[in-house]
Amino acid sequence: MCGIVGHVGQSSSVPYLLKGLTNLEYRGYDSAGVALWNHGFVIEKVVGVVAPLTTTLLPLEATTGIGHTRWATHGIANHSNAHPHTSVDGRIVLVHNGTIENYNELAREYDITDLLQSDTDTEVVASVLDRLVTKTGSMTQAIQELMHQLHGSFALVIMDSLNPGTLYAVKHRSPLLIGIQADQHVVVSDASALADSFTEFYVLEDYEYAVITATSALVYDKQGQQVHKQRFIPYQRSMDRSLGVYQHYMQKEIEEQPVVMRRLIKEWQMDDEIQAHLTQAARIVIIASGTSYHAGLVGKYLLETMLQKPVDVLLGSEFAYFPPIQVEQSLYIFLSQSGETMDSIRALERLQTSEAVTISLTNAEHSTLARLTDYHVYLHAGVEVAVASTKAYTAQIACLALLANAVSRSMNINVELANVALAMEDVISRSAVIQTLVRSSMNDQRSSFFIGRGVDYALAQEAALKLKEVSYIQTEGFAAAELKHGTIALMEEHTPVIAIITDERASLTRSNILEVQARKARGIVLSSEQVAQPTDDFVVAAVHPLLQSLVMAIPLQYIAYFAALERGHDIDKPRNLAKSVTVE
Ligand code: M6R
Repeated sequence: MCGIVGHVGQSSSVPYLLKGLTNLEYRGYDSAGVALWNHGFVIEKVVGVVAPLTTTLLPLEATTGIGHTRWATHGIANHSNAHPHTSVDGRIVLVHNGTIENYNELAREYDITDLLQSDTDTEVVASVLDRLVTKTGSMTQAIQELMHQLHGSFALVIMDSLNPGTLYAVKHRSPLLIGIQADQHVVVSDASALADSFTEFYVLEDYEYAVITATSALVYDKQGQQVHKQRFIPYQRSMDRSLGVYQHYMQKEIEEQPVVMRRLIKEWQMDDEIQAHLTQAARIVIIASGTSYHAGLVGKYLLETMLQKPVDVLLGSEFAYFPPIQVEQSLYIFLSQSGETMDSIRALERLQTSEAVTISLTNAEHSTLARLTDYHVYLHAGVEVAVASTKAYTAQIACLALLANAVSRSMNINVELANVALAMEDVISRSAVIQTLVRSSMNDQRSSFFIGRGVDYALAQEAALKLKEVSYIQTEGFAAAELKHGTIALMEEHTPVIAIITDERASLTRSNILEVQARKARGIVLSSEQVAQPTDDFVVAAVHPLLQSLVMAIPLQYIAYFAALERGHDIDKPRNLAKSVTVE
């Protein structure tokens, strides 16, 4: 949520800033902006996507600059709220990810409220830093003081007009990485911004700050002591962002899922100690948000069946402030595509003073969750660009199955995942059927419902989220039997009600479909081969019963994709969303 890129070197900063911003656009696309130093600050901003900045920036010359893509938190998406922000006294320009809770108090304390040009907390931060550097005469001292004064989360990359060949970076609860080369450095909020140009990075920890020039990047702790940082090399394998023959990343990523299953068969690895913790755990708690939470709901079904242990699935945002009573010998699994979701990070922080063992499953190997948990498992989904998560969701489910199977040995999982990949390909080859179904049932509808029982209810919740995200159709995922307890009042003529049936025990869902059809709603049944009936609208091939949800996920994702396509929406950048939600 919001992306940062800064560059300082002996060659032009412009290509690095543009490339970084383009790669980071999926983190926020309300506005974008760049500040360059060329005998003074040159600031260019655009409301909306990054592309229009290209023509403005390409002719410019500068060897130091910072850029930002914004997902609005304080103030609407307009030119004055776009980053970079200049301090009211004009010396400092900076970009910011995160939110500052006490920005109004700071503005009053520094008497700048009436001088501000934007509605943002960021402009206040720039102005406070300007006053502090003027007072102390030292930028590093000013940054140390600033850290004490800011309440909230921040990743800041700063330019100072009195020291223009230097970038300063500081962070708390929002990631920043420094890419290193002999004659240039970058500072980015996400390795994917520039990992193909920079092969070595430092990761800044909370309250560390860095002083970065073309030839050096020195990192200090909050007392001002220099810290010797370990370098890491980002994994190039996950950096392919080409769209290829596809019209949208969402379609590409849906259709890559068989490849992801095969990659997991080949490359998935798990620390032996994780297996021991899974064996010893009395209870497992899965913590996640959004689509990852829904993967956790499927995971509960898998883990409880395979391990015969109780599993709770909790939202990161709820766990962070309303944690349930903790049971001894609980094992905590954090699921996250990005590894940067603030709600889940906050939940993890709650556990850090306890003895609890924590494992993260993320698609980003150097992410905050990956670094802060005791163990990390990589999802192998490959880079996911579309804001609506698809292949990371099924990778999470498959990884949970792999984790559980390492202990339970319930199946020959490599063979079964290979069957899943084939069954997914079969769905992909018939995607036109789903498009026709969507066209005939959803085009004029303002609401719809997905229903299911057991694991199909978990699938229904994710199907509904996906449809909402990209088509903006008001949709809910319901436990099938619950409809008649109230929600059936919403049924109107032709309202689509999509029933998911992959389990014999869920055959009563068919009665629930008859009930809505009796109210003239449009019943649609998606089933799997072993429970299918001839009248079902779409049938997926049978695979191992514990893995059936992986296959059923594909037609459900296509429903969302085709509904958005029919409505002409910007599928990969749905309104109001961002790929990685780094605020609470
Ligand atoms: O990166 P995470 O998996 O932790 O993200 C959690 C949610 O923000 C994310 O799944 C969100 O719901 C997606 N837009 C889903 O498509």
